[in-house]
Amino acid sequence: MSILKELEQDVKKIIKKAGYDVERFTLETSNRRDLGEYQINDAMQLAKVYHQNPREIAEKIVKELEQDDRFVNVNVAGPGFINISLSDSYIKDILNKINEDVYTNIDKKKSKKVIIDYGGANVAKALHVGHLRSANIGEALKRLALLLGYDAVGDAHLGDFGRPLGLVIKEIKDMYPDLPYFDENYKGDYSEVELPITNEDLERIYPLASNKAKEDEAYLEEAREITVKFQQYERGYYDLLKRIVDISKEDIKKTYEELNVHFEIWNGESDEMKYFEELNEQCEKTKVLTDSEGAKIIEVAKEEDKAPMPPLMYIKSNGSVSYDTTDLATIVERKINVNPDEIWYVVDGRQSLHFEQVFRASRRAKLVEDDVVLEHVGFGTMNGKDGKPFKTRDGGVMPLKTLINLVSEETEKRITSEDIQGEEKKNIAKIVAVAALKYADLLPFRSTDYIFEIEKFSDLDGKTGPYLLYSTIRMKSLLKKAEKISAKEITKLKGDTEKDIALTILNLPLTLDKAIETKSLNEIAEYLYKLTSSYNKFYAENKIIGEEDEELQSSWIVLTSLVYKINTMLLDVLGMSIPEKM
Ligand code: ARG
Repeated sequence: MSILKELEQDVKKIIKKAGYDVERFTLETSNRRDLGEYQINDAMQLAKVYHQNPREIAEKIVKELEQDDRFVNVNVAGPGFINISLSDSYIKDILNKINEDVYTNIDKKKSKKVIIDYGGANVAKALHVGHLRSANIGEALKRLALLLGYDAVGDAHLGDFGRPLGLVIKEIKDMYPDLPYFDENYKGDYSEVELPITNEDLERIYPLASNKAKEDEAYLEEAREITVKFQQYERGYYDLLKRIVDISKEDIKKTYEELNVHFEIWNGESDEMKYFEELNEQCEKTKVLTDSEGAKIIEVAKEEDKAPMPPLMYIKSNGSVSYDTTDLATIVERKINVNPDEIWYVVDGRQSLHFEQVFRASRRAKLVEDDVVLEHVGFGTMNGKDGKPFKTRDGGVMPLKTLINLVSEETEKRITSEDIQGEEKKNIAKIVAVAALKYADLLPFRSTDYIFEIEKFSDLDGKTGPYLLYSTIRMKSLLKKAEKISAKEITKLKGDTEKDIALTILNLPLTLDKAIETKSLNEIAEYLYKLTSSYNKFYAENKIIGEEDEELQSSWIVLTSLVYKINTMLLDVLGMSIPEKM
């Protein structure tokens, strides 16, 4: 348990000693530090329960609190607010305890099995900026969940079963009609077939095919037919699809790795649809399917709906399945293979209707038990300066790789150290660029849109990823310089800045709680900035290595190492790597 939670329990006991029972007790951090570091606001509530004057209640509680030498400056304000501060010696104790192991000062949650669906990259199409937020938020949420004791895994959930693949295969068929994949009589092993196609080719083929289909109805029709073929796992077509997936997946993996994003499960929709039979059985059993003009649908509207809720498209009239159905089959597969307590879908907020339909259909068809949580963790878009979703200069969708390179060029300009050159400089710039992108992406509350501002994100000063990395590296180099100085415990502190740092450290569990509750990383991003900037203020105010008071000096070194440890832990939660130098 975190020290803050322990402290809250102790205060609860003290209030009990004063004669009052509070059910749920939390210390509120005060924004008037001069009055007190924390506030206890329960007297008003207790007054109603015990039919006493709140101020009197507060005074009785204060009397008890004053007996405890961990607290100082305990006083009553207004109608019965209690202000309370922590004694210097207690603060030092706390810091030393946390410093022993920063991971113990965390409130673990009930261990739950969670699948986090935050990939969604589409095969044969380059990862684009639209996938950036899924990746950043999802990866960070997964890391946070793991830190808090969940059993969390990430699933890439590749898009590899829809019309785009039908179009790609149609175009390949036109380019290479003699490939054995299109020969009904071919009896050989498809894995031995030579396929003259690279990932670059694929990225070119899709836009080409998609444009052709817009102008040529017959072309589109054949792409549709091909889609039905591989969706029915027809030999040849399905085998080609798998080959395409393999080629594309390698490149997708590389881009995710550059973003420091790693999935435990690499299923695609085509793998998930192998559970269609089980899904169908369940849908038949629960009688949720309705025929509608040759298609099969699932009605999901409820009487209390305020907005229209169209039915879920289960099988289209031409026999192909929709995005909705792949998500239903995925739930069935996950239930069978993982049996999660919760599934979080970290996907663009604009898909909220889709998920509402999928969740309602899953409930109706009883694909999971009622207590399994299905949650769409939606997010806003990254916009350009025009306020519209970020695009390339000519209005196209920007590939993620291009975006990372663009930001890398910018961060490289900011690395001015003489001893970082050439290839090393490029590598460091890339790590910093990813941090810049991630931090900017995680800083706003997740459902908020934000504007891509490359200079601002890359700035070494201000609320940015590079600032956090730079500061953390500086802490590390200070610790290296101080290696010979024996520093074990914090025994002496002076000044308000150190106290600010200490209280920020103590309050970390509040931030983590808030983050997991809202499934947004903004609180952690803000926290990192707050802790780092308080530390930097302290760093500017004092000459740590030159300090003559040895007790103070070694205490400061321990404080530095503590902040460094917390920064490292939280940067890792946000998925930001720290370069050796910059
Ligand atoms: N491939 C989809 C897209 O690019 C995203 C998939 C999101 N995950 C899901 N389970 N539907 O829009």
